[in-house]
Amino acid sequence: LQFPSSWYFVSPGKKIKGEGIFRIQIEEHTLVLFRDPLNQVVALEARCSHLGADLGNGFIESGNLVCPLHHWKFNSEGFCTNHSQSNGKNFVQKKYPTKEAFGFVFVFLGDRFFEFPKFDFLDQFEFQSLPEVKLDTTWYTVGANGYDTLHLSVVHKRGLKENPICTFPEWYIFQMDTKAFVEGNQLSDYIIKFLSRDSITARITSYGGVLIVLESTLHLKTSVLLVFLRPEGDSVCIFTMAGVRKKSIWLDFFRKKISAFLYKKFLFKDIIPLTRMKLRTENLVHDPVLKYYYEYLVNLNLL
Ligand code: FES
Ligand SMILES: [Fe+2]
Repeated sequence: LQFPSSWYFVSPGKKIKGEGIFRIQIEEHTLVLFRDPLNQVVALEARCSHLGADLGNGFIESGNLVCPLHHWKFNSEGFCTNHSQSNGKNFVQKKYPTKEAFGFVFVFLGDRFFEFPKFDFLDQFEFQSLPEVKLDTTWYTVGANGYDTLHLSVVHKRGLKENPICTFPEWYIFQMDTKAFVEGNQLSDYIIKFLSRDSITARITSYGGVLIVLESTLHLKTSVLLVFLRPEGDSVCIFTMAGVRKKSIWLDFFRKKISAFLYKKFLFKDIIPLTRMKLRTENLVHDPVLKYYYEYLVNLNLL
């Protein structure tokens, strides 16, 4: 399976700052990111369009990215501003769409473009990053896991009160709504049981396969888990942030810690089952919910 046309997580916005150049490789794309004079994040192809030096080794000079080898300058549109080809045409670095939202930077890779989803409600949330995990499996194995209700019951000890509702609001979106209750008897299960009064509603939405938002409401209190998948060869890097609604600085700090703790406990249980898993996509169709994940992969043009 290919990797999908989608918005890929790059880094927290604060890591791309000042005159710094942020270099990143995502599958066959090597990119350099920097901020233009208006503080917007720009992503250009890293390989210089002149002789191919790596612009990640260059520097920024009055808003232009300067190649380390012959000091050709590229502006935030990717156009070379101090040299042109013998036929008068500009040298151009390929430019990639970027988006900075709720403190994180994303870049669009692929040829089936869609606008960055409207995540305005996330602006009311405060995020705490969980440790980054690299798993020896594919991005869609992790993606499918979020919709695996059998696994949810036997490993995460969450029963479902009703059949989940699955929808495709757009070709690149897959959403599942569930009502669950806690079956487990670990400390984190008791905390959730207490906080939720045993009523959990969860909505898990995938955008372009690799951007996943889990909204869970425990008795009127909503928290958010963002999961960004970045394929890396035969593995996948998983970036996870737990978010709670901003209320007061002191309380937010503790609420953030508790929610990060609970999500960590939850996700930790996925590491062993998913390690070295090779998803048999052809069997997804036999599961009442995962069959929609199969359909989603078809919608994404991957199957
Ligand atoms: S290789 Fe970049 S300017 Fe020549
Ligand atoms: Fe899981």
